[in-house]
Amino acid sequence: MPTLVIIGAQWGDEAKGKLVDVLGEQSDLVVRYSGGNNAGHTVIVGDEEYKFHLIPAGILHPNVTAILGSGMVVCPKGLLEEFDRTVAQRTFGPTDNSPWDEKTQRKLGELKISSAAHVVFPYHRMLDNLEEEARGANKIGTTSRGIGPAYQDKVARFGIRMGEFVRPEAFRTRLKEVLTYKNRLLEMFGSSPVDFTSLYDEYSAYAERLAPFVCDTEPIVQDAVAAGKRVLFEGAQGALLDLDSGTYPYVTSSHPVAGGACLGTGIGPRDIDSVLGVCKAYATRVGSGPFPTELHDDIGEWIRQHGKEFGTTTGRGRRCGWLDLVALRHSCRLNSLSGLVVTRLDILAGFDTVKVATGYRVGGESLNYVPAEADVFAQVEPVYETLPGWSGNLRTARKLEDLPSEARAYLDYMAEATGVPVAVVSVGPARDETIMVRPDLIWGGT
Ligand code: GDP
Ligand code: IMO
Ligand code: MG
Repeated sequence: MPTLVIIGAQWGDEAKGKLVDVLGEQSDLVVRYSGGNNAGHTVIVGDEEYKFHLIPAGILHPNVTAILGSGMVVCPKGLLEEFDRTVAQRTFGPTDNSPWDEKTQRKLGELKISSAAHVVFPYHRMLDNLEEEARGANKIGTTSRGIGPAYQDKVARFGIRMGEFVRPEAFRTRLKEVLTYKNRLLEMFGSSPVDFTSLYDEYSAYAERLAPFVCDTEPIVQDAVAAGKRVLFEGAQGALLDLDSGTYPYVTSSHPVAGGACLGTGIGPRDIDSVLGVCKAYATRVGSGPFPTELHDDIGEWIRQHGKEFGTTTGRGRRCGWLDLVALRHSCRLNSLSGLVVTRLDILAGFDTVKVATGYRVGGESLNYVPAEADVFAQVEPVYETLPGWSGNLRTARKLEDLPSEARAYLDYMAEATGVPVAVVSVGPARDETIMVRPDLIWGGT
């Protein structure tokens, strides 16, 4: 039963996409379980850069069946654009010579979408922007993809699911019912209502194209797990953006934590063998919300420029700061991590010394955990430990011994402080710029 959940252990953009692609080669199924096209997962193959928002990042491997799980919210228009772009973009570099049948589109034909996943409509995106406007100074800084409003409909038992969407009559009836209510809401915000016929016509065309991919995916995942196949669950966002365990209200509206893989795909907790938490060697955050180790100085700007820290989905500049080991420890516990995947160690090269937060102080008191209240968290002062920095080009390192001793000491420090061993180190965006430190931690030792 080799199953693996890959989660973001910080505030997203930790390089989950790269890891999912690298380990996708060893997988039978790659299953996304939460979020929607607020995610942006980058995969580099040779000269080609793929940006996946909804399609699981394992799709490039011929052996993989990629599934959009029931916990997701799916924008049909975005999915079809991504689908067409991926087909057009797919090249056959030296590391990827898998067969590709243009006629049958064999690879993307293996894409499956859960009939229980919810559909994102234009009115969700409109409401996302209107709600943000209404929040004024407290805005979340969402990706404007309608994610929050789509999950609101799901929780209110008002959403339209993929299974209904692809049946024309069911879709017509549900959209009529929902749009009447949504238009009242839009008018309340002073916005123009959405026309039923044009929305129905446009989205019916998307539904027709997507229909062959929609099915009940839970039995597929369950059967694969029972048959001992390798199933990789691809997290989106990051644990600190989790609706319950993150920095509420500055969070996303789903469950990026490892437990979300159960909620969003139809497996149970005992079906998970291992969980890898992807974290950068430093920290970034997009959008609003507390970020104690954020750097507002030249160092923060240097990391942003040198690390090209701009959002994959929105292009916004990411806020950058030192590694926060208190927040990372919180994440390790929330996700019962088997191992850490430390990425972008190469970006941090060139500093004489680097800092890591090992504790917080608030109101003259020490604090060694992440407080649940965002306004309290926003007030904490990080307590830093200064460690020796490293220099040189780390991107050629293929084993731990190839790394500068200070970089190795930094990894040891992370493992010691969190109590979680380092399983993988990433030293560049390419597939081979990866050091497999503890392969035994990856598939639960199988
Ligand atoms: P995700 O949302 O977690 O999949 O991460 P993103 O794709 O949004 O952002 C990660 C960025 O870092 C992408 O541009 C990757 O190509 C890049 N990347 C991944 N691993 C490394 C690494 O070890 N070093 C460097 N320099 N870049 C990396
Ligand atoms: P990946 O999967 C980084 C952030 C947004 C905002 C908050 C809520 O690429 O790591 P939403 O649109 O979800 O309602 O926005 O969550 N956010 C992300 N930040 N990476 C992501 O995804 C994110 N998805 C959402 O910036 O602060
Ligand atoms: Mg991203």
